[in-house]
Parts: sequence; structure tokens; C-alpha cells
Amino acid sequence: MIKSLVKKKLLIDGQWVEAKEYKSLISPYSGEEISKIPVASVEEVEMAIEAAYNARSVMGKMAAHQRSAILEKLAVSLTTKAEEAAEIIVSEAAKPIEAARVEVARTIQTYKFAAEEAKRISGETIPLDAAPGGEGRIAYTVHEPLGVIGAITPFNFPMNLVAHKIGPAIATGNTIVLKPASQTPLSSFFIGELLVEAGLPAGALNIITGSGSLIGDKIVRDRRIKMITFTGSPTVGIDIRNKAGLKRVTLELGSNAAVIIDDGVSLEKVIPRCVTGAFSYQGQICISLQRIYVHENLYDTFVEKFVAETKKLKLGNPLDPSTNVSALINPNETARVVEWIQEAQNGGARIETGGSVEGNILQPTVLVAVKPTVKVSCQEVFAPVVIIEKYSSIDQAVDRVNDSRYGLQAGVYTENIHTALDVAEKLHVGGVLINDIPTFRVDNMPYGGVKESGMGREGIKYAVEEMTELKLIVFNRN
Ligand code: SIN
Repeated sequence: MIKSLVKKKLLIDGQWVEAKEYKSLISPYSGEEISKIPVASVEEVEMAIEAAYNARSVMGKMAAHQRSAILEKLAVSLTTKAEEAAEIIVSEAAKPIEAARVEVARTIQTYKFAAEEAKRISGETIPLDAAPGGEGRIAYTVHEPLGVIGAITPFNFPMNLVAHKIGPAIATGNTIVLKPASQTPLSSFFIGELLVEAGLPAGALNIITGSGSLIGDKIVRDRRIKMITFTGSPTVGIDIRNKAGLKRVTLELGSNAAVIIDDGVSLEKVIPRCVTGAFSYQGQICISLQRIYVHENLYDTFVEKFVAETKKLKLGNPLDPSTNVSALINPNETARVVEWIQEAQNGGARIETGGSVEGNILQPTVLVAVKPTVKVSCQEVFAPVVIIEKYSSIDQAVDRVNDSRYGLQAGVYTENIHTALDVAEKLHVGGVLINDIPTFRVDNMPYGGVKESGMGREGIKYAVEEMTELKLIVFNRN
């Protein structure tokens, strides 16, 4: 058992606090207990919020270079412990080790971006004499921290999506109450330990685990908390939005991401890239490639080559570096996806490969002739399942991509610059990838969606805007 996998404690006001109640954390791959996780009581949640509330003035007054230095130290210590961090992700999330290593490298990068951004937060001067009556006044804006931020994070990137909330919150001088996903709290506790060592003041970060609904409800309704930043399902996101009142809310809610393959595209590089987009981390990524629309002239070749490439993927233990696909996050998820595949088949879909569960691993599954109304097409499947459909005109393909409740990212492969720009304009999504799959993210780019994919943007600079209040100061020289 690696060091981090022992009985954990809550982080409240800079102290590691033993809870009264614990529950087992089970490995999604082996089914074995890997840790004991605290179940915070209402009183402990209250203590965490109060600690964050009281730490506001310390964090709010801390100089930008000091906030930056704490984040920089975190990035350095995470670099030295990168392999341990990757193993934690593997153990709690069943993320294949190579993908977990990439996530750790991205997390380091995210904290470095946050350290840099802490020093760049600036306002502007406003020319008030642009209107009669404004003469003789100097006006400028500053970005002030909001105070306490409630962060609720998902299981699929337990280190980097936490970094996208903690990083900009510290950069902007806010304090945080963090509720990590119940299946993947170990990554957050690990980062919490490193941040305490890096000199983050007591109360600036509080980590509480336990009942999602109890903690979530308290954080969302508490008046001391000024913003909720949430990544997860649309159902929970919409519920948060409805309960949050005047709190600021950032929601990143997933999608059924699509790519268009235009006529004339060479498939040599496109096929392996699409296979990566569809099956990385078992498809449990908000921008996982779920729908592929291929021009009719390329369709048969594309399906044949895509299926052949998919069959090369190796299923197995996430700790084995040769494993591409491992177990889904829990057996209920596997059962749900099997049902969704069955529903598609009942509607006339054909399985080109996959469709069965091998041990506890759902095989990478390729479906064709799928009705647009079945769940594997119109809802977020969040599993290693992809559908391939034929189209005859680019407008038809764009309509199919846009015929979705979601709109996070979409891709288009084309040799034609006019088609690229036209499609980019017409796609109703937060981000368009030209000559790439939608499953692409670098951690400083604006990331977020339209429709049921959410509201607000992450990507440190953009999160800094969400996490600060613009204040105007007008100086009257008259
Ligand atoms: C997500 O699943 O929303 C995050 C994707 C990523 O950061 O690569």
C-alpha cells in the first residue's frame, strides 16, 4: 500500500481532523479497499466554511508575489512526487498509468499557470471625460477576491480539475471549501498536504468528504460562500444553479462531443487520433469523442480502419503501462452503459466491435446505424462507446453535431479553409478544433460550454475573471 492510501483526515483550518465516521474507498479495478475516507458531519462542514470565511482577510491581503510563490512551491513539490501522484490517480480512478502521468504533468502546468496569473491580475483606467460631466475625474478598476469559493469536483481528472479550481482561487486571494468526488478524494488530500507544506495559511483551503448531497447542499446554500465552481452532471449543475441564489456559479457539465470528417481528408493520422479521443480513460472525459460524422465517400474505409485500430487497444490493469482501457468508475456505470448499448441495438444499431464486458472492463465499442434519438447518441455516454454516421453534405453534418442538448467542444477535419471557417462559425459549442478531435485541451485555453454543457469558463486567466469582482474607483480632481 502506498503511503497516501491510509486512513485519511479532513483538512479544516490548517489542521488534519479525524472524523467521527468513515467509509471504505474501493478500487474500481480490483474491488479491494484502498483507503478509509472521512464522512464529514454537518458540524465539520460548518467548521470548514467558518474557517474559510475567517481566512478571507489573510488571503485577501496577501501580496500577489506571495500567492504566486505558494503555487510555484506546490508545482515544484508535485514535480518531485509526480510518480506517487500518478499512482494515487490510478488507484482511486482506474486511470491507466500513462494517462495518469499525463494528468500529473498537466496539473503541474496548471499550477504554474496559476502562479504566473497571480502576478498579472490588473484593472484598467476609464476615460470618464468621454461623456460630458466626466471631466476632471480619474477612474480605474481593480479585481477583488470574492471571498469564499465552494468547489465541487468530479472523479475523472481528480488532480487537474481540482487544480483548475484551487489554482485560480489562490491566485486571486480567495479561500476555498473543496468537496472532491467521493470516489477520488485521495488526489485532493495529497494536494492539500503539499499546499500546507508550501505555506498556505490555515483556513485558505478546507477539504471535506462524505455525503455529496449534504455537503453540496450546505455549500450551495451558505451565505458566506460567494461562488460555486462545479464540474459534473447537468442534473446536479442545474440543481446548483437553482439553489445558488445570487452566488456566482461556474458550471462545466459535459457533452456528447462530435467530430466531422470532410471528403478528401487523408485518414492516416485521423484514425488513431479519433481512437484516442473515443477511448482515452475509458471515454470518461467531458470532451470524449462520442459521435463521428464521416463524408459518404470515406465512410466505409473509415469504419473499417477505425475498427481495426480499436481492436489493437489493450484492456487490463491500470497500473500496467501497456494498458489502454481499464474498468469504469464503478459496476453500476458498466451496467448502465450495457443497457444503453442494448437500447441502441433494439433501435437497429449494429456493433462493429466491442459491446461486451470482459471481466470488469467494458470493451471499446463502435456502433453504426444508430438512431439519433437513442441515449448513446443524444446523451453523454461517458464510457468507451463511439458512434459513426455517414453524411452527404457538410451542412447536414453541422446540423447533426448541433442537434444536441450539449455544446462543449467539436472538431472538424477538412482540407478546405473555407469549409473550416464556415463550420467553425456554424457550430454551437464553446470551442472548435480545426483538423483535430474535440478531445483536446491545454490548460491555459478558455474551456467551457454552451447549452447544457454549462456556463462560465475555466483556463486560469478566464477563471480569474470568474473568481474576482470588478471594482470601480473614481477620483474627483475638480
Ligand atoms: C473534462 O473532462 O472536462 C476535462 C477534460 C480535460 O481537462 O482534458
